[in-house]
Amino acid sequence: MASLFDSSIKAIIELLDAINCGALLVDRAGVIEYANERLCQMLGRPRGHVVGHRAESLYGDTDAAEKLRHRLSAFDEPYEGEFFLPSVDGKKLAVIMSGKPLGKSPPLSDHMLITVINISGQKAAESQAHEEFEVISRLSDTVIAQALELKRYNERLEEKVRERTLELNEANMEAIYMLAVASEAKDADTGAHVRRIQHYTHILARQLGLSEAIAERLGYSAILHDVGKMVVPDHILKKPGPLDTGERQAMQLHCIAGERILSKKPFFDIARQVARSHHENWDGSGYPDGLAGEAIPLGARIVHLADIYDALTSERVYKPPWTPAAATEHILKGSGTQFDPNIVDAFRSLRETGRFAAPRFEDEP
Ligand SMILES: [Fe+2]
Repeated sequence: MASLFDSSIKAIIELLDAINCGALLVDRAGVIEYANERLCQMLGRPRGHVVGHRAESLYGDTDAAEKLRHRLSAFDEPYEGEFFLPSVDGKKLAVIMSGKPLGKSPPLSDHMLITVINISGQKAAESQAHEEFEVISRLSDTVIAQALELKRYNERLEEKVRERTLELNEANMEAIYMLAVASEAKDADTGAHVRRIQHYTHILARQLGLSEAIAERLGYSAILHDVGKMVVPDHILKKPGPLDTGERQAMQLHCIAGERILSKKPFFDIARQVARSHHENWDGSGYPDGLAGEAIPLGARIVHLADIYDALTSERVYKPPWTPAAATEHILKGSGTQFDPNIVDAFRSLRETGRFAAPRFEDEP
């Protein structure tokens, strides 16, 4: 029996010498019975300093030694896990240890075969990958922080551009008002007239289904509809009675004069059309070109109605103000002759729902 055991152990030792990883035989007391060359190399110790010693003694009096002792106390349980080998220079070599009793009954079951695979290369690679990950994470944080700062900078810039655009727009509108009021001043108007026309034009445009942006543009274009009146002599503008033929012709020139006064920049395209054509009638009986129907620019058709309504409901040197009801009746009667029927319909809807009312301005008396 003993010789059979000895021959088995001998065969196992020959096998351990042939395999390409560290391997050792340990008995139930934890004493190393054999260590192959590869294991001795990993430990950096000659076989004589390994064989015959307790395995835990390689680790000195440390937690690792205690852990190994605990592991070997469960001698009959197969084991596999990460551990380390202590080298003589104090370094730790990361390994995977696998332990298994040689048999299920004595004497073989009193011997455990342990294989030891060096994984220090993988561990080093893992550690390097972790470090690289940390570096990339820090870089990512920096990049993200810079991107956020750039985004905040862009937002501040956009806000400044918005503010400047608003200021420019306000300055433009102010210049337009000033020009309109300067021309209206000859007509003894305070400027409220042009702002009412702007308001009526805006709400009529919206009622017709035009966008807010277009309605707004038509509104400021309406402000300048009578700018050409600055070329009409005062005695004609302020004459309390009816105009004679010559005076009427001079008055009618304000349409063409207005178109010429206004800039040819695209910003004033609609304003020029409105200035020229706001006295054209839907049936072709207006001036200065006798245009009819949709040949009259839409903006001019809207301003025409707004202008007449405001003129009727305002006091003039030659007439008292009409009531809104009387002015409305006049507008409705003019549908299809003086005014575009669609615009009259939009006007009627606004009047019937109480939305066509004269606005009040802060600076009005
Ligand atoms: Fe006019």
